[in-house]
Amino acid sequence: MKDLIVVTGGTGYIGSHTAVELMEAGYEVLIIDNLANSQIEVLGGIEKITGKKPPFEKLDLLDRKGVMDCFDRYPAIKAVIHFAAHKAVNESVEKPLMYYENNLLSLINLLNAMKEHGVRHFVFSSSCTVYGQPDKLPVTEQSPIKKASSPYGNTKQIAEEIIEDSILSGDPFDAISLRYFNPVGAHPSAYIGELPLGVPANLVPFITQTAIGIRAELRVFGDDYNTPDGSAIRDYIDVVDLSRAHVTSIKRLISGKNKNALEVFNLGTGKGLSVLEIINAFVKATGVDIKFRVEDRREGDVEQVYADTTLANRILGWKANTTLEETLRSAWKWEQNLRNG
Ligand code: WQD
Repeated sequence: MKDLIVVTGGTGYIGSHTAVELMEAGYEVLIIDNLANSQIEVLGGIEKITGKKPPFEKLDLLDRKGVMDCFDRYPAIKAVIHFAAHKAVNESVEKPLMYYENNLLSLINLLNAMKEHGVRHFVFSSSCTVYGQPDKLPVTEQSPIKKASSPYGNTKQIAEEIIEDSILSGDPFDAISLRYFNPVGAHPSAYIGELPLGVPANLVPFITQTAIGIRAELRVFGDDYNTPDGSAIRDYIDVVDLSRAHVTSIKRLISGKNKNALEVFNLGTGKGLSVLEIINAFVKATGVDIKFRVEDRREGDVEQVYADTTLANRILGWKANTTLEETLRSAWKWEQNLRNG
């Protein structure tokens, strides 16, 4: 029987791309999602790519009994990849209690259900936001964890501590926390991609919505940073490359190759790019011009952050291969497919 991997948040952006890569790697996948920030039609996109629609459970992970019952129904569960969480930085500042309740209680319910059902292997969707503005760049997994600049970032820090404390207590888990930098792009088929509800907070979906005419122009939040062109720098990683790191992590845990019960890896390209460089790269890759105007800095933004990817490359055996041009083209193809149906 094939290993069944639970993907919570599996109709979301990174979750759906990871479900595709898992299925293409030969795993059975069960998607659990409450559809609070994603659409059920994503299952159709996954089916178009893989030829199979994965089993789906509409379930809010805050429903402790519901989670337990779900695990009762699927005794073949071998591992869990946990994406389901609220993730809008600015919304978390306005609604901290909703973020702490949702992101932390969901995790605790999930870990309890795993423990109850003897499921050991756990991959956690973490974030480079745990580093805040690093003192040294590129940032390594040993870089100091700084006070989070938002309740969202704090939930990622606390979640990592919950996992670590649970393992230190002797709970039978082995876990990998993957600290994402900036996930961008879409599956090359354009059947799945980023589906921001409302006005996108993130840069690349705002660019593609400006390119297709939904937005009049892009606001560049600050050009007075201490960077070569004054705009802020990030490490933009292709979502399919990122998803493949989850498959590599699951393989590592199931095969027992992990060196510690808890491992942490930065998932980035190792290259920092500024906002203006991304805009220029998009125009060059697609031939579509982007109207933008420079505004003040955005509250909570760090100046620059990009990854030291040595551990992920050497220990995890994973590397981001997609070029920025291919990634931006995939984002644009997805936006066109979304709007032109
Ligand atoms: C990138 C840069 C903005 C929009 C995100 C997630 C966070 C975490 C890391 C998962 C910044 C600038 C943006 C716009 C702009 N991911 N920008 N105009 O803030 O680095 O963090 O990735 O855990 O949850 O939020 O990404 O895409 O919002 O911003 O100038 O309209 O683009 O100021 O410098 P960010 P982002």
